[in-house]
Amino acid sequence: MRLTNSPDGYGLVHWALHWGMAVLIFWLFWLGLTMVELPLSPQMFEAYALHKSLGLTVLVLVLARLAWRRLNGVPALPEGMGRLESVVATAVHHGIYGLLVVIPLSGWLYSGAAASPANWFGYFTVPNLIGANETAAKVLRAVHDIAGKLLMLCLALHVLGALKHHFISRDTVLKRMLLPRRN
Ligand code: HEM
Repeated sequence: MRLTNSPDGYGLVHWALHWGMAVLIFWLFWLGLTMVELPLSPQMFEAYALHKSLGLTVLVLVLARLAWRRLNGVPALPEGMGRLESVVATAVHHGIYGLLVVIPLSGWLYSGAAASPANWFGYFTVPNLIGANETAAKVLRAVHDIAGKLLMLCLALHVLGALKHHFISRDTVLKRMLLPRRN
C-alpha cells in the first residue's frame, strides 16, 4: 500500500486522516449538540470531558494533515471541471480546513475563559490559553457555535460535490478517496 499521495490518487496516510477525522467530527457534533441538553450530572461532565479530548485530537490531526498536504501535494482536480465549480470546490476545502482550526481553538479558549480546563483523556491537563473572563466566554461560545454551523454547511456542500462527481460527472474523484492507492 502506498503511503504518499501521487498526481492521480491518495496514499494511505491522507486517506486514514480523511476518514478518521470524518468519524471524529461526526462524533463531536453529536456529542456537542447532546451534551448541552444534559442536566448537571456525572454523565454530563463525562460527555464534556470526552468532547474536549476528541476536539483537541482533531486540532492536532488537522495540523498534521495540513503539513502532510503541504509536503505531499494532492491529486489534481479532474479536467473538464468548470471555472466556477473549481473555485467553489477550492473555497469549500479551505473553509473546512480553516474551520477545523477555529472550532477546536475557540473551544479550548472558551474552556479557559469559563474556568473549566480541558484534560486530554485523563492523561494531562492542557494549559488555559486565557484567564477566566465572563465576556470572553460568551463571545468564544458564540464563535464555537457559529463556526460549527458553518462547518456543517461546508461539509454538506463537500458531500454533495462528491456525489455530483460520482453520479453526474462520472469521474474518479469519489472513487479515489474511497480507497487508498495500492502502489
Ligand atoms: C472539531 C472540533 C470540534 C467540534 C466540531 C465541536 C462542536 C461543538 C458543537 C456542535 C457544540 C454545541 C454548540 C452549541 O449548541 O452551543 C459544542 C459545544 C462545546 N464545545 Fe466543542 N467542538 C469541537 C472542539 C472542541 C474543543 C477542542 C473544546 C475544548 C477543549 C470544545 C469545547 C466545547 C464546550 C465546552 C462546549 C459547550 C458549550 C456550552 O456549554 O454551551 N469543543 N462543540
